[in-house]
Amino acid sequence: MAETIRVGVITVSDRASKGEYEDLGGPEVRKAAEGYGWTVVSESVVSDDKSAIQRAIRECIAKECGLVLTTGGTGVAPRDVTPEAIREISDRELPGFGEVMRMESLKITKNAILSRNLAAAVGSALVIALPGKPSGAVECLSFVVGAIPHCVKVLTGVPTSC
Ligand code: MTE
Repeated sequence: MAETIRVGVITVSDRASKGEYEDLGGPEVRKAAEGYGWTVVSESVVSDDKSAIQRAIRECIAKECGLVLTTGGTGVAPRDVTPEAIREISDRELPGFGEVMRMESLKITKNAILSRNLAAAVGSALVIALPGKPSGAVECLSFVVGAIPHCVKVLTGVPTSC
């Protein structure tokens, strides 16, 4: 049987991190990840703060997550800094993920153009920034899921052929 992917889920939201708002995105992303047969080993809720986001990503990597999924903070609000936080610690950006997520999402909502979805390699982990709306996060994950197992294998050094 193929080995499961260890996943970290991070909700990025000022309001959810203060408890003013129930975190709906994280549990939906978790459910989707489990539906793909992956194992969610870490879940956290952090504010829209670059250091807090970077710390949460590093904590997932310390728990040997091959895949880190963030939800929220990809838009154009003044506090939306998830893409910048990831870029600052990324080794390489993987532009295809953002391109496909926006292209497919545009078929659903005009506002998809506002989401600065991205993916990057941070050490040996694949980090993907999904939008904050729970349905949007699950949709975006579904658009790129086909490439994730191969990408995680390559990043973690598992021998694989295309
Ligand atoms: N993508 C999909 N597939 N479905 C959606 O509903 N919502 C959009 C967009 N991407 C959406 C989507 C909206 S309304 C916004 S404002 C941006 O993602 C940014 O969201 P964020 O700042 O919560 O991350």
